[in-house]
Amino acid sequence: MAVLGVDFGTSNSAAAVARDGKPHLIALEAGQTTLPTAVFFDFDTKKMLIGTAAGKALLAGDEGRYMRALKSLLGAPLMRERRNMLGEKLDFIDIVARFLARIKTAAEAETGLRFDHALSGRPVRFHADDARNAQAELDLREAYARAGFDDVTFMYEPEAAALANRDVLAQGDLGLIVDIGGGTSDFTLFRNGTDAIDILASFGVRLGGTDFDRMVSLETVMPLLGRGSQIKHAFGNETHTAPTTIFNDLATWQKIPFLYAPESRRLAKDLEKYAAEPLKLARLVSVLEDEIGHDIAFAVEAGKIAANDAGNGAIDLSIVERNLSVPLGEGMVEELLDPMAGEMAHAALRTVANAQVAPEDVTHLVFVGGSSLMKVTRSALAAKFPQAKVHHGHALTAIVDGLGLASKSAFE
Ligand SMILES: Nc1ncnc2c1ncn2[C@@H]1O[C@H](COP(=O)(O)OP(=O)(O)OP(=O)(O)O)[C@@H](O)[C@H]1O
Ligand SMILES: [Mg+2]
Repeated sequence: MAVLGVDFGTSNSAAAVARDGKPHLIALEAGQTTLPTAVFFDFDTKKMLIGTAAGKALLAGDEGRYMRALKSLLGAPLMRERRNMLGEKLDFIDIVARFLARIKTAAEAETGLRFDHALSGRPVRFHADDARNAQAELDLREAYARAGFDDVTFMYEPEAAALANRDVLAQGDLGLIVDIGGGTSDFTLFRNGTDAIDILASFGVRLGGTDFDRMVSLETVMPLLGRGSQIKHAFGNETHTAPTTIFNDLATWQKIPFLYAPESRRLAKDLEKYAAEPLKLARLVSVLEDEIGHDIAFAVEAGKIAANDAGNGAIDLSIVERNLSVPLGEGMVEELLDPMAGEMAHAALRTVANAQVAPEDVTHLVFVGGSSLMKVTRSALAAKFPQAKVHHGHALTAIVDGLGLASKSAFE
């Protein structure tokens, strides 16, 4: 039976099979083994674009609807709300299903095999709430079914990363996988054996790089669009602070598309009308009119990464207004993200505590996931396990490597 290993990530997805005992990654786009988890409904061609093509259409300003971080919507009631998209009534499960179907087709074309079965990664906790967490897996399971898979089985993403990185450890060593991704942070404590690993505990939190983007945006970009500024009352001299929801949503990848509904545009216009600082709210109005919320999110993400790499940087907001940019001074990104990195470190400690292991006994810390490249996460995590040797696995492919390896025996 041919089983496809699939890492459906918040920001990036990938697929793999086992070949001669090693993971073989599928080329999902020209020469690329990772695929941005993004779609674009092109209103002109009536086609749904996927991955890099979706991002290109967004940047080109094509007429349509872009979506990223769809994984963060799993488990939410709106996953099953149907909307009109390119003349069809689709819910978000259909959209995820079409994305997964693209991966299936690419894998079948490359290998000549037929994949009726999938081994899918999943975060340890999509949500902290148990009911939502269970619903998220049901939603994802249904998306695999609608994508044409007869059956899917799930593996915790950090457990897959443990399989892919066990060679770094000697026999008997105790490793902690730290997978800081786009939407979640996931941890697995494992002991390396002769021909297998022993999983001692897995745990996770719903916090990742997209939350970093949200925090940076809320604190640095959204104030320029009127967050925190005063709105006058229609009568009298009273004022109140602009409502926060619209800014929170604009700073949150998966919520941006919903802001282009008429109600949000109307709210923004009302705020502008009574604003003590109308120039700021006028920016908000035009961001919604021009549908450039995702462009701002990409600018924030790029600023975050640049500031992390160089110590400081800037967020280029020329898409909003000529010459507009936000400086990210030395240490500013670290300071903003430090509380979240602290929560991630706390979750790592809890993973180890769940196995009744002392932090000092962890011999190896294995970092994977794109947001493990952030200095603030590395230092917060490493500080809790000072005795451990630090190893950096493949940031974007460690999970799919493990899923590929495990796919062979997933249904035995
Ligand atoms: N060079 C970099 N420096 C810092 N952060 C980065 C870098 N490259 C990517 N990221 C961040 O990593 C995150 C994506 O990581 P990754 O691809 O591991 O997530 P994912 O697997 O899609 O998400 P999840 O596992 O949470 O569902 C994004 O938030 C992105 O901004
Ligand atoms: Mg991931």
